[in-house]
Amino acid sequence: MSKIKIDLERKIGNVDRRIYSGFIEHLGRCIYGGIYEENSPLSDEHGFRKDVMDAVRPLRMPLLRWPGGNFVSGYHWTDGIGPKEERPRRIELAWHTEESNRFGIDEFIEYCRTIGTEPYICVNMGTGTLDEAQAWVEYCNGTGNTYWANLRRQNGHEEPYNVVYWGLGNEMYGRWQIGMLSAEDYVKKAIEFAKVMQWTDPNIQFISCGLNGWSDWDRIVLEGLASFVRYHSIHIYTGSEDYYSNVFSAHQAERALRNSQAMIDIVRYEQNIEHPIHIAYDEWNIWYRMREADTRLEEKYSLADALAVASYLNSFIRHCNTVKIANLAQLVNVIAPIFTNEQGLFLQTIYHPLRLFSEHMLETALDVFVDSETYTLSPEQEVSPWPHRVGDLGPFKMLDVTVTCDTSERELAIAVVNRDRDHAHTATIQLTDPATLTGVVAYEVNGKSPEVINSFEQPHAVNVQEHRLDLEGQNINYTFAPHSFTLLRARLA
Ligand code: AHR
Repeated sequence: MSKIKIDLERKIGNVDRRIYSGFIEHLGRCIYGGIYEENSPLSDEHGFRKDVMDAVRPLRMPLLRWPGGNFVSGYHWTDGIGPKEERPRRIELAWHTEESNRFGIDEFIEYCRTIGTEPYICVNMGTGTLDEAQAWVEYCNGTGNTYWANLRRQNGHEEPYNVVYWGLGNEMYGRWQIGMLSAEDYVKKAIEFAKVMQWTDPNIQFISCGLNGWSDWDRIVLEGLASFVRYHSIHIYTGSEDYYSNVFSAHQAERALRNSQAMIDIVRYEQNIEHPIHIAYDEWNIWYRMREADTRLEEKYSLADALAVASYLNSFIRHCNTVKIANLAQLVNVIAPIFTNEQGLFLQTIYHPLRLFSEHMLETALDVFVDSETYTLSPEQEVSPWPHRVGDLGPFKMLDVTVTCDTSERELAIAVVNRDRDHAHTATIQLTDPATLTGVVAYEVNGKSPEVINSFEQPHAVNVQEHRLDLEGQNINYTFAPHSFTLLRARLA
């Protein structure tokens, strides 16, 4: 029998809803053929796919990052404004395609407003110049009688967009990046970008470009940019054909968060930095199938991947004092929870935990005690891609659990991933406070086997089952099915 012990006094901190944010890149069919498809009967007057928006809205993503990703390091944003027929088609060097520029900054802002999310723009620090970055901020946020603010008005947008979040380049450490830099050169360049951008609008907030959270790159960048930035970005993609390696892979995010928090603490202390600096995990996901072979990155997600995604979200909740922003990479078609063709869409397996967390997890994370069976990986099983391959083999608990409560402590949301491939686990859920768990509802994500995927033919192979439970008391027992994710909502009486 496993044990989940909940003490309402053991609070970790506030869960920032921005950990449920998203990311769209000009890559494969994410923008064109994903969120945007002109002349489709499924699109609205802006060319936005209505069925996609209907699927995106329940994810309630507080921020949407754009336009890349690797794409941004060769992107000149001015190509994407003004009359669409006059916008240039360009060679696209990051993903070796062509860019029509029919979706640009004005369309992005319109999209954010339509789905009710806030924009987060990453600037081009590859081929982009200081002038371009300064002009981009002025175009978006300028209120004066100046060239770029007036051009926005001329393009039909009288009011400023007030874009708060600005990323200082994407993965500038990478050989694959257009305009790769050393950490020292990146710092020098980023400081100049930050200066002119902030002189244009002092209210914007910067996100520095980190690597995995514990590398020399991260240390040098944090040391150099701490006084400028509010967030330090790190990226993580994991995944494996091996079931256990896959479902436990989020432990790498936990380690990154622990280490990057330590680095941030040291830098803030040494430099006497008063403002907080938090982690923006602004690209994260399971991604291991469609890497070199397919530049459209149309990963089809299994139930095992959905369990890994749920464990990632649990990691973010546990480290809620460190990670304040996290952007699932990406939103549609490209390593994404939503998959379209010209006639419609289906929801991938990973969509379901994302929606359940965003809809049900509450404001305050609790430090929950969990006792469950464990599993230890063998060295051969630890096969996640660079730069996240560091051999932490466990032991890992089969039940991965987080608990959140609302501010008035009347409601609980308990997220449990049973990563055991073969066995159900019954757990006693115990309240240490003299209160009663009541009105318990279970939302379970599961399927016939961990390998099952959703598809146009079988869109509901992995789905959410909702059960109202006839259970009440200070202690309740619940059996978590093999390879399942369950979110329990309960009231406290
Ligand atoms: O999300 C796919 C790619 O992964 C992004 O373009 C890049 O930033 C990362 O390497």
